[in-house]
Amino acid sequence: MARELSPIEKAKLAAARRAVDFVEAGMRVGLGTGSTAAWMVRCLGQRVREEGLKITGVPTSVQTAALARAEGISIVTLEEARWLDLTIDGTDEFDADLNLIKGGGGAHLREKVVATASDQMIVIADAAKEVACLGAFPLPIEVIPFGWQTTKALVEEMLVSLDVMGREVTIRMKGDQPFVSDEGNRILDLHLGRIGNARQVALALNQVPGVVENGLFIDICDRVVIGHGDGRVVVRDFSGAPDEVDRIDFAATENLFADL
Ligand code: 5RP
Repeated sequence: MARELSPIEKAKLAAARRAVDFVEAGMRVGLGTGSTAAWMVRCLGQRVREEGLKITGVPTSVQTAALARAEGISIVTLEEARWLDLTIDGTDEFDADLNLIKGGGGAHLREKVVATASDQMIVIADAAKEVACLGAFPLPIEVIPFGWQTTKALVEEMLVSLDVMGREVTIRMKGDQPFVSDEGNRILDLHLGRIGNARQVALALNQVPGVVENGLFIDICDRVVIGHGDGRVVVRDFSGAPDEVDRIDFAATENLFADL
């Protein structure tokens, strides 16, 4: 018998299941990273196996590549694909303009490169990720290992001139060592609390030598699919069209989590 998912996992699964309906035969699809994106990869795998859907995936992390392979999704690198039809990825926060904070999983550099190389980006999220103002979730920035302490000090100095509430910067750790991204870099987490002008902050941070990329996704996301624990999903378009409301039947997805 399948295990019972928590309401939050059901919400993530519902969003993921609805989002893969946007994938069509022959598409090159960017595959995001994180727990919500993992549900999307499983749902896509189900369509590949059960419907014979032919697509090519471009994973945004080593972790997603392994899952996609296990799900029977054919994958290539971005170098091979060059341009994508669609990317589906999770988020840590999204606002009313569909601007995002990403990088909670430390993969925002590859995620941003892949999403920007896509005709469309669809974000999948549980309802708790929606915020009135970005910034409660610590904003990640990926920095090169060389002189990262100096880069951190420069970022702290830069923050003084920006419209943010908090200014604490911490190095992300994994156990007792700094976290290392798939690109071999470090992650600094910026505890800003509230970001007054996300576009300005995104541009300013990328000016600091040593910063490779920040986790603010401005004007990149086209659509958000918001999942709820009862199977309800809301599809929101950046065009401002009215939200579309749907419902996912979890029975049709039970074999996706029976073995988890
Ligand atoms: C990874 C990401 C993730 O998409 C983000 O952290 C959301 O993760 P989850 O779906 O596990 O909440 O940006 O770098």
